[in-house]
Amino acid sequence: MHHEEPATAARPSGPRTRSRASLTAVAVPLLGLAAILASCTSSRTDDTPTLTGDALLDPNNCLPCHADQFREWSGSMHAYAGEDPVFLAMNRRMQRETNGQAGTLCVSCHAPVAVRMGLTKDGLNLADLPASVRGVTCYFCHSTDAVEGTHSNPLRLATDGALRGAITNPIKGPHRATYSPLHDRETQASATMCGACHDVVTPAGAHIERTFEEWNASLYAKPGQLSCGKCHMEGRDGVAARVAGAPIRRVHDHSMAAVDIAVSPFSESEAQRTAVQKLLDATLLTKLCVKQSPVGVLAEVTLDNAFAGHKFPSGAAQDRRAWLEFVAYRDGAQVFATGVVPDKKSVTSIVDPNLWLLRDKIFGPDDKETHLFWQAARFESELLPAAVTADPKDPAFFHSVTKTFTLPLPPPDRVTMRVRMRPMDFDLLDDLVATKDLDPTVLERIPTYDLGGTAREWTNAGGFRCVE
Ligand code: HEC
Ligand code: HEC
Ligand code: HEC
Ligand code: HEC
Ligand code: HEC
Repeated sequence: MHHEEPATAARPSGPRTRSRASLTAVAVPLLGLAAILASCTSSRTDDTPTLTGDALLDPNNCLPCHADQFREWSGSMHAYAGEDPVFLAMNRRMQRETNGQAGTLCVSCHAPVAVRMGLTKDGLNLADLPASVRGVTCYFCHSTDAVEGTHSNPLRLATDGALRGAITNPIKGPHRATYSPLHDRETQASATMCGACHDVVTPAGAHIERTFEEWNASLYAKPGQLSCGKCHMEGRDGVAARVAGAPIRRVHDHSMAAVDIAVSPFSESEAQRTAVQKLLDATLLTKLCVKQSPVGVLAEVTLDNAFAGHKFPSGAAQDRRAWLEFVAYRDGAQVFATGVVPDKKSVTSIVDPNLWLLRDKIFGPDDKETHLFWQAARFESELLPAAVTADPKDPAFFHSVTKTFTLPLPPPDRVTMRVRMRPMDFDLLDDLVATKDLDPTVLERIPTYDLGGTAREWTNAGGFRCVE
């Protein structure tokens, strides 16, 4: 496998500039850098932007003034979108199996700048393109000036060279800057910008990644509720740009961690993994009730998607697995178990009639189940619903899901449970390895998370009762 240099390594002067510099004078590339540095330290006197045109495309050109946003973004799945070996493997296989007919289907979201510039028609040449046009870059998000649809990236890019954000009174910098409600997490409209990519309809018409649709139907889309950015871009006080005279403002986390992490060496991967774990630990509320009934001992497990602004899991739910691990013991021996999945085995490979698995299942045009989502013609879905109302008097207020397990007699003396999750599972990955599209070393890096806040333990010391 070809290992790419992460899109994130700071490269103020690429190889081309360097060789030119040795021919002429070192002053040539330095002048450009000096101009950027000068505007970092002294306030500008004229209004002419110096950072324009193609220079706006390269995230490295933002680094001198927006180091925090750069660092956080550089470990994000947005930066990884065009590097991800699983993405590259799936795209390669899709192009082969469709004789190239799928075209820009995948790259239109995973490397949108390359597509808009006409640098790729199928994503097969991504490795040959500059890192600055792969992935979801600063420029792509910050140049969006209209959302012309609800799925499959219908975002329109501005041509005025202004970078859009939520600051209404930006101080002078090297580029134009404009306020945009599409970038202001205080507006519900900002969700339409994120949602334009976070919603995928396949060529056969299956609406498989539905994060925007789910959010739109939820409580969170109502006025005054929470946009995507309110949960995914935490604010803190700081300078938006490291230039003299920059005021203290609300600045925002660009790591946008959720579930997925890099599965090849990548920048900021420790920080990203920590952020993922922190979010997942605080997503669900759980309750475990162990009761005696005429039919025996019952265990009622309740899972409540209390803190995600869409279903759980959302997005790439066809590849994602979230499941309940539940074990009952008597005298230290297991008497009942479900969802006990070995770390390197796929969840669907275990025989387990009680398995509570949250995911989408996808089916091709022949109605056979598939792992390859570009083939999907329909799906079946079992996910935890999102909140739809904040009114406790409305019956829809209660959106948690409860399942009951009948435990064998004599009654257990200890019961444990937790929710576990994998960003993608080995059934899909093994399939990509089998066709030699994916390097098998990737499999070793697939995480299985324990959702910290979901673990519950019941012991008979306190009698039959609920623990939450
Ligand atoms: C409309 C935009 C869009 C299109 C088109 C798109 N993706 Fe994605 N892709 C996303 C988003 C958004 C995520 C993150 C979703 C999530 O993490 O839940 C993602 C995540 C992924 C991931 C990592 C998560 C996972 O478990 O699968 C892979 C791999 C991937 N896409 C492959 C592809 C391939 C291959 C295609 C073409 C068949 C494609 N994508 C087309 C937007 C898109
Ligand atoms: C020489 C310093 C400098 C460089 C380099 C720079 N910027 Fe800025 N940028 C600024 C300043 C100054 C502001 C205004 C900050 C303020 O008002 O607090 C700003 C504001 C912004 C804003 C907010 C706009 C708004 O109205 O909300 C965005 C987005 C932005 N920059 C993106 C970028 C991107 C992307 C790059 C790289 C292509 C980049 N900047 C390069 C100095 C810089
Ligand atoms: C140009 C399309 C595009 C836009 C616009 C976009 N995203 Fe993404 N996003 C992606 C893709 C593609 C991925 C997944 C890349 C991968 O895993 O390979 C992703 C990944 C993510 C993830 C991580 C998902 C995971 O499973 O860990 C989060 C969270 C996220 N985006 C939130 C947002 C938010 C919030 C916004 C708006 C501020 C936004 N995105 C705008 C395309 C986009
Ligand atoms: C997925 C879309 C997305 C990507 C990619 C992205 N940003 Fe942003 N950025 C936003 C949004 C949305 C905001 C505004 C949040 C708010 O204030 O409500 C923002 C805010 C900013 C701001 C204003 C200060 C702050 O932190 O709020 C700067 C500066 C900025 N981004 C620079 C960058 C740079 C530099 C990159 C690339 C290294 C980048 N952004 C990548 C969506 C994005
Ligand atoms: C109320 C807070 C909240 C809001 C609003 C919200 N999210 Fe999330 N999001 C979460 C939490 C918590 C998780 C982690 C649990 C999960 O995977 O669902 C998450 C996970 C995700 C994921 C990973 C998908 C998965 O579940 O595997 C993506 C992609 C994402 N969010 C994008 C978005 C987008 C796009 C929006 C707006 C349309 C949005 N989110 C709105 C809290 C929120």
